[in-house]
Amino acid sequence: MIVRLLMFVAALGLVATATAQQPDQARSIALFREAGKVLQSPRCLNCHPVGERPTQTDRMTPHVPFVVRGADGHGPAGLPCNACHHAANYAESGVPGHPKWHLAPASMAWAGKSLGEICQQIKDPARNGGLDMPALLKHMAEDSLVGWAWAPGGKRTPAPGTQAEFGATMRAWAESGAFCPPD
Ligand code: HEC
Ligand code: HEC
Repeated sequence: MIVRLLMFVAALGLVATATAQQPDQARSIALFREAGKVLQSPRCLNCHPVGERPTQTDRMTPHVPFVVRGADGHGPAGLPCNACHHAANYAESGVPGHPKWHLAPASMAWAGKSLGEICQQIKDPARNGGLDMPALLKHMAEDSLVGWAWAPGGKRTPAPGTQAEFGATMRAWAESGAFCPPD
């Protein structure tokens, strides 16, 4: 617990001082591990699964009712995601919502992957939807579907911290050389 707290405080310090410094592999990896607490939270992993089905709840169990990715992540024509997931969280039924609600492509699968593997994937434009680093950082810091993870509705545990803090940690990681953890 104390170690974790110290790591968190250290990471905040790193965020504050990372600008205008030379690439530093150890610091960069520490920053990515801090960001990994968000990336590997159930709120992100449920939509970035390995395989064809989303998962749900904090325990990341297979999605019930049975649904599949479909050709474009929006589910098959007969049962698209937005048949149930509407533009906003729906308190009465507990179904989460967002206008762009759909499943990340298989090339962006994170569940069951190591943090090092996730890191290599997200910075590879061939596998991240063609995003260069500025576009990737903007997506993390500002995309409202990513932002849903901090206001997920129901009994879901929000992703740790805030989207702004997460965006700042990712930016400091990029500015310190965007190194990936070895594992
Ligand atoms: C027939 C209705 C229905 C369809 C269609 C549907 N869902 Fe769901 N989905 C639900 C319900 C209900 C929940 C809430 C379950 C809970 O949290 O207990 C849910 C929860 C989820 C969650 C969990 C969020 C979290 O972090 O807890 C994800 C992710 C998800 N759906 C993705 C999708 C995707 C992607 C599609 C389309 C490919 C889709 N769903 C299609 C009904 C549906
Ligand atoms: C409702 C489903 C959903 C949730 C929840 C979700 N994503 Fe995604 N994510 C997607 C989809 C779909 C894409 C593909 C790009 C697009 O169509 O916008 C994507 C793409 C991405 C990408 C770009 C490409 C890549 O290499 O992965 C990043 C980065 C990303 N998401 C980060 C996150 C983070 C961080 C969280 C949690 C804080 C998160 N996402 C939660 C659906 C989701």
